[in-house]
Amino acid sequence: MSRYYSHIAGTGGYLPESVRTNDDIAQIVDTSNAWILERTGIRERRIAAPEETASSMGEIAARQAIEAAGWDPEEVDLIIMATSTPDRIFPSAACMLQQRLGIRSQCGAFDIQAACSGFVYSLSIADQFIRAGTSRRVLVVGSEINSRLVDWSDRATCILFGDGAGAIALEPSSEPGILSTHIHGDGRYQDLLYLPNPDAGIHGEFPYVKMQGNEVFKIAVNTLGRIVDETLMANGLDKSQVDWLVPHQANIRIIAATARKLGMSMERVVVTIEKQGNTSSASVPLALHEAIQDGRIRRGQVLLMEAFGGGFTWGSALIRY
Ligand code: COA
Repeated sequence: MSRYYSHIAGTGGYLPESVRTNDDIAQIVDTSNAWILERTGIRERRIAAPEETASSMGEIAARQAIEAAGWDPEEVDLIIMATSTPDRIFPSAACMLQQRLGIRSQCGAFDIQAACSGFVYSLSIADQFIRAGTSRRVLVVGSEINSRLVDWSDRATCILFGDGAGAIALEPSSEPGILSTHIHGDGRYQDLLYLPNPDAGIHGEFPYVKMQGNEVFKIAVNTLGRIVDETLMANGLDKSQVDWLVPHQANIRIIAATARKLGMSMERVVVTIEKQGNTSSASVPLALHEAIQDGRIRRGQVLLMEAFGGGFTWGSALIRY
C-alpha cells in the first residue's frame, strides 16, 4: 500500500488594514505602551472593518494559498476552517468560504473550534484525511475577529488580541511532509479562559472573553514544554534538529520559554506578536506564511508548530517543509 504524507503546497495570509496601537488603547483604558510591551511583547494589532467577517478574511488568505499551490479552486476537496468567531453559528464559516471561492464541487466543509489551538487541531485533522487517501487537496484556514469578542473596558484582556487570517494548502506527497501532529484537551480548566454564550442561557454573562491571565500563563508555559518533548520523542528527533519554531502568538514570554526549552535562539523563532497581537487560530498560519514569504523558512527545513488555548486545548505539528 502506498503511503502518503501531507505536504504544504502553498500558504496565504491576510491582516485587516486598520492598526490599533498600544497608545490607542491607553486612550480607552488605564494602561501604557510600556506596560503592554514589557508584559506581552505586543505593540499593535489589526482590527477588522465592520463589513469584514471570518469568511471574508479567510477568502483572501485561501486564494493566496491556492494560487501558491498552483491549484484550480475547483480541485479543493475539503475545507477545514479553524475559528471561534464564525460569521454565523451555522452554517459553518467553511461553507461560506466554499461559496466565496466559487467551489461548486460540493466538497466537504466544516469548522473546528478549539480556541487558540484551532489551527493545529485542524491541521491534524487534515493530515489524517490526506494520509488515509480520502482527500487530495485540503484547505486549512484559521480566521478570527477577536476584536469583537473582547470587552474594550477590560485592560487585562483587550490589550492582547487582534484580527487576521492565515491559510495552508495541503496535498499528498510520497515524501514527508507533516511528520506528526499531537492534540490534547483538558476541560477541567474551562473556567480560566472562556467566552460566554448568553444564548445558551447558562451563565447570564456578557459575550466577552473572560480570562485569569496569570494562571493561563503558568499552565501554558508548562504544557507547551511538555508537548515539545512529546513531539520530539514521537519522531526520535533531538531538539537541535529543529530549524524553526512557529508558535502560537499569545505572549512573547510564553514563546521565549518554549524556545529556551528547545535550546533555540530567538532568531530561530518566528515572532509576529509585536505587530499582530494574539490572532487565535490565525496566528500559526500567519507566522508560517510570513517566514516563507520573506525567505527565512526554506524547503527541507524542520518546523515545530505549537499552540495553547481555551479548553484548555493544546497541540503541535512537526513538519519537514
Ligand atoms: N495595563 C496596566 N496594568 C495592568 C494591565 C494593563 N493592561 N492588565 C493588568 N494590569 C495590572 C493588574 O491589574 C495587576 O495589578 P495589581 O497588582 O494592582 O492587582 C497587575 O497588572 C498584574 O496583573 P497580572 O495579571 O498578574 O499581570 P501579568 O504579568 O500576569 O500579565 C497578562 C497579564 C494577561 C499579560 C499575562 O498574564 C498573560 O499574557 N497571560 C496569558 C494570556 C494568554 O496567553 N491568553 C491566551 C491564551 S491562548
